[in-house]
Amino acid sequence: MFAKMTSIGAYVPEKILTNKDLEKIVDTDDEWITKRTGIKTRHIAKDEVTSDLAYKAALNALKNANMQPDEIDMIILATISPDYFTMPSTACVVADKLGIVRPAVDIAAACTGFIYALAQAKAFIQSGMYKNILIIGAETISKIVNWKDRTTCVLFGDGAGAAIISATENKEEAIIDIDINADGKYQDYLITPGRGVKYGCETDRIWLEMKGNETFKVAVKTLSQSVRDILKRNNLTSEDIDWFVPHQANYRIIDAVARAIKMPKEKSVLTVHKYGNTSSASIPMAINEMVNIGKIKKGDLMLLDAFGGGFTWGSALVPFN
Ligand code: UT7
Repeated sequence: MFAKMTSIGAYVPEKILTNKDLEKIVDTDDEWITKRTGIKTRHIAKDEVTSDLAYKAALNALKNANMQPDEIDMIILATISPDYFTMPSTACVVADKLGIVRPAVDIAAACTGFIYALAQAKAFIQSGMYKNILIIGAETISKIVNWKDRTTCVLFGDGAGAAIISATENKEEAIIDIDINADGKYQDYLITPGRGVKYGCETDRIWLEMKGNETFKVAVKTLSQSVRDILKRNNLTSEDIDWFVPHQANYRIIDAVARAIKMPKEKSVLTVHKYGNTSSASIPMAINEMVNIGKIKKGDLMLLDAFGGGFTWGSALVPFN
């Protein structure tokens, strides 16, 4: 038995925050943000929380697959901005919104969450345990960034993406390979210190903190290695890839990794200018956007990569069905 990506869906909240809007909030300017990151706008959730975005992305993925919620055997949801820290999981809240009683679990792999969710869904399906798994990356990071910290608040945005991973006997449709990694020695580089039991109420550092420049360097190095490794061990080159769909944190990271594997610019998917860094949601949102505008088509081979807090990072070779 193999696992395939059956469908994709996404949702973004309505409100758009531009770089010009941010100039009124923190000491920054459009030129700095554009030059250093490529970001122009991001969507911000006002009255919605992460499960609301996740639910709408899930409905979109179900509609695109022509499936009903009760055909889903399990939900795996990746987020760093859950409705509740500790419990219940946002996946449980989404299962309830969908009206299904099924195994549902959140995973904490930060911006690499979608690739980790994909790896888990693939393993469950290949084991024969489940037939259809709904995986979701959903974030309202606007609710966990410090709006007084210009080094982080300008970078992120809210959104959700969902995919249905299903069993197939057709190897041609199957996810080819997934590479996931983590190195906890970088745990302090990207962290929300005051939202767990270690510091808890003893600190007011409850917002996302990032050592941006250091993170950038490790991201480029590890991602380049991961995409090179996954291509090599599957006897593929950038010529065999139809679409490079990287995590959308910064166009400069995307560009550096694309150059490392000689990926032509026209095959690199860029949505960071519209949505900013939506963490675990960025890859499914980007795939969905490319499918909607008719670029990614059935049978196209996608190379995904992502990097995030932990640090975690990884890549995947996924045909679009
Ligand atoms: O998705 C999860 C993983 N996250 C990432 O992959 C993000 C990785 N990091 C990055 O994308 C980049 O490091 C940033 C975009 C966050 C920052 O770019 P940078 O080129 O690494 O800039 P920097 O941190 O070295 O800062 C350069 C200068 C500093 O001023 P001084 O010390 O040179 O005077 C900052 O204080 O830019 C200043 N700065 C800003 N200026 C205007 C930092 N943030 C801003 C801002 N507006 N928003």
